[in-house]
Formats: sequence, C-alpha cells, structure tokens
Amino acid sequence: MQQAKHIPVMLGEAINALAIRDNGIYVDATAGAGGHCSAILDQLGSDGRLLAIDRDPDAVAGVRDRFVEDPRIEVFHSPFSRIAEVVASQGLIGKVNGILVDLGVSSMQLDQPERGFSFMRSGDLDMRMDSDHGMTLSQWLSTVDEFLLVRVLREYGEERHARRIAAAILEQHAQQPLATTAELAELVAKAMPRHDHKKHPATRTFQALRIALNDELGELQRFLLQVISLLAEGGRLVVLSFHSLEDRIVKRFIAQHSKITDELPLDLPVIDVERLAPLTRVRMGKKPSREEVSINSRSRSVIMRVAERTTAPVAEPDLDQLFGIEELTQRVADQQRSGRAKGTSSKKSKSESKTKQRFQGLLNSQSGIQPLKLAGVS
Ligand SMILES: C[S@@+](CC[C@H](N)C(=O)[O-])C[C@H]1O[C@@H](n2cnc3c(N)ncnc32)[C@H](O)[C@@H]1O
Repeated sequence: MQQAKHIPVMLGEAINALAIRDNGIYVDATAGAGGHCSAILDQLGSDGRLLAIDRDPDAVAGVRDRFVEDPRIEVFHSPFSRIAEVVASQGLIGKVNGILVDLGVSSMQLDQPERGFSFMRSGDLDMRMDSDHGMTLSQWLSTVDEFLLVRVLREYGEERHARRIAAAILEQHAQQPLATTAELAELVAKAMPRHDHKKHPATRTFQALRIALNDELGELQRFLLQVISLLAEGGRLVVLSFHSLEDRIVKRFIAQHSKITDELPLDLPVIDVERLAPLTRVRMGKKPSREEVSINSRSRSVIMRVAERTTAPVAEPDLDQLFGIEELTQRVADQQRSGRAKGTSSKKSKSESKTKQRFQGLLNSQSGIQPLKLAGVS
C-alpha cells in the first residue's frame, strides 16, 4: 500500500524556536517521517549532530533510509522516555543545544489500516506505536476492567457516554474478542444514544484508547523530567502538543521549572532569574497560522511551547506535583504490566504517586521494553 505523506506541522516556527547553531547538537525525539529532521539538517553545519528518536520501527527504518548519506544524523529506535539513555550513549549529557518533540501519531500510522489506528479503514485492532513491543489493543481489552476503561474513555477521550461504551465493549469482547477497528467503531456507534454528526462517533474512544495503550502521557512526563539535565546552557526545548491533556502537562512543567524557588533566603540581593530557575519560558503557547491550517487540517489543534535552559543548576523535579495530576497514567501502566485489571481503590496509587521510588519504577517500566539497558536503542 502507498505510504501516506506526513506534512510536518509548524515547521518554520519550530525550527526558528530551536535557534539552531551552526555546529550544535540537536535531538528530534519524534522523528516520524523526518520532516523536522530535514529542516534541522538544512541549518546545521558540517560538524553539527542530530540524534533522531522514534518508537515506531517503521518510522526508524524510513528515516534511516531517507538520510542514509548524511553522517550528521543518527537514528535510534527508542521511546523518548529514554532520551537520557540515548543522549548518554553518545556522551552528550548537558551538551544538547535543542530538543524537539512533535507529539502524537504520524499520518503514516493513521492512514495505514493494518496499524489499527483508523476507524475509517478497517485493520487489526493493534494501535501500538511500537509494533515490536507491548500488548495490542485487542489483547489489552482482554485484561482491562470496566472501572479502568470508563476512566480512560472519560479522562483521555472526554467521552460523555463512557459507561455505556465501556460496558458494550467489554460485553462483546468477552463473548467474541473484537479483532478489527471496524468492529470496534461500529460497536461504539451503536452504544451511543446520539452523536455529533460532524465527527465519527468513535473519534473520542479511539483517541482515549490510543493514549492509554501507548502510555502517551506517562511517556511525556518521564521525558520532561529528563530534558533539563540534557540541555546545554541556552539550549532550547520545543514541544508541539495536539490536545489539552498533553499541553497541560507541558505548560505546567515549563511554569514549574521557570519559577524561582520559594526556599531562597529572604535577604538575597537582586533576584537574577537566570541563576535561580533552570528554564526560562521563551514564549506562551503559539498556534499555527490560518494558512497552515487551511493547507494541513491536522495542524488545527497543535500548540507550540518553547523554553530555554538557563545557567541554574538542575533542581530536583517536583514529582508530587507532576504525577499528582496524572494518577490515571500510573494506573494504566500498572494494569499493562501486571496483564490484569487492578482493584478499584484509588488510595493506593495516590499515595504511591508521592514517592520517588515510584518515579524510578516508572522510568524502568515502559511496557514491553526491558529496563535499564540500551536494548531498544540501536
Ligand atoms: C507527529 S509524528 C512526528 C512527525 C515528524 N515531526 C515529521 O516531521 O515527520 C509523531 C511521531 O512520534 C512518534 N512517537 C510518539 N510517541 C513517542 C514516544 N513516546 N517515543 C518515541 N516516539 C514517539 C510516533 O511513532 C510518530 O512517528
């Protein structure tokens, strides 16, 4: 089947925001089809370096192929939650001049029915970005309980009919496991009492399941916790988010790390933000131009945020705050790891979210990928 073409979003804006230095070191943490990579390489001098990461083996193969002749780029098959391992493998911790992350799925993933992301064209109920690891959606639905599924649909999809849809999915799946995206989409449409005719009734359900199955918000949180220590002074972080769940995490993260700590001695002389907070917010959220949205409708919901590394020593991440908002990502990850649905008490995971052990556990727990070795990084 012919590969769908992925149009990179906010290309000019993102590249400007990276403020590329001639012989700098850059990371594109979501290489996709290599559109942003190509624009970075265009501005990079002959001694510059680009580390390109993607968790999708097809994307990795495509980008390797596309830039096979260019010695400045190296491509890694890895989730970006392991960005520190990738950067460490090149001896570049603290030396990176810019990190770009363009979240979500690519047009190739969406438009290839066999990947299982599409309700428009039927394919296997897979939906994994990394088709080499982890459970398929069909397998995941066999392990999930109704309580968790309702929360996933409600919180990741903002689906008002979450209860009905979850009950219908699980009832059907128990009788005869759902095998294709078309079966799932039809079931969802039937389970809904009414729906907005402008949108396919399964849109929210598919979004929610994709986020949960690929642990997208947990990935983003773990990634953000590592980026500050990877950046050189003046290095830029540029994030393109596609929905409010992602953007909220990014916005909070930048705000939290651009703030002067409350614990400074009161008699400290003139406050120099540069010395005190590890990041400076370079700009508020920026949306794409109208022209871009008219040419590429996929760009309509994107929002770009940019921050710059200061000279301040890296502060301990405030794990309580960061994980407090996303207890559900931990619950989904727990369920994927154990391969069965957990009980329904929320007390346990809330208290767990307050420990650093849990952070370590999260770092080590990418489903299906062996912890603490560079096995996924090639
Ligand atoms: C929107 S596309 C990026 C497109 C790319 N900027 C381009 O110009 O072609 C998102 C890509 O990020 C990858 N991705 C999503 N989550 C990821 C993660 N946690 N770790 C690594 N790659 C991820 C997807 O596999 C997909 O290829």
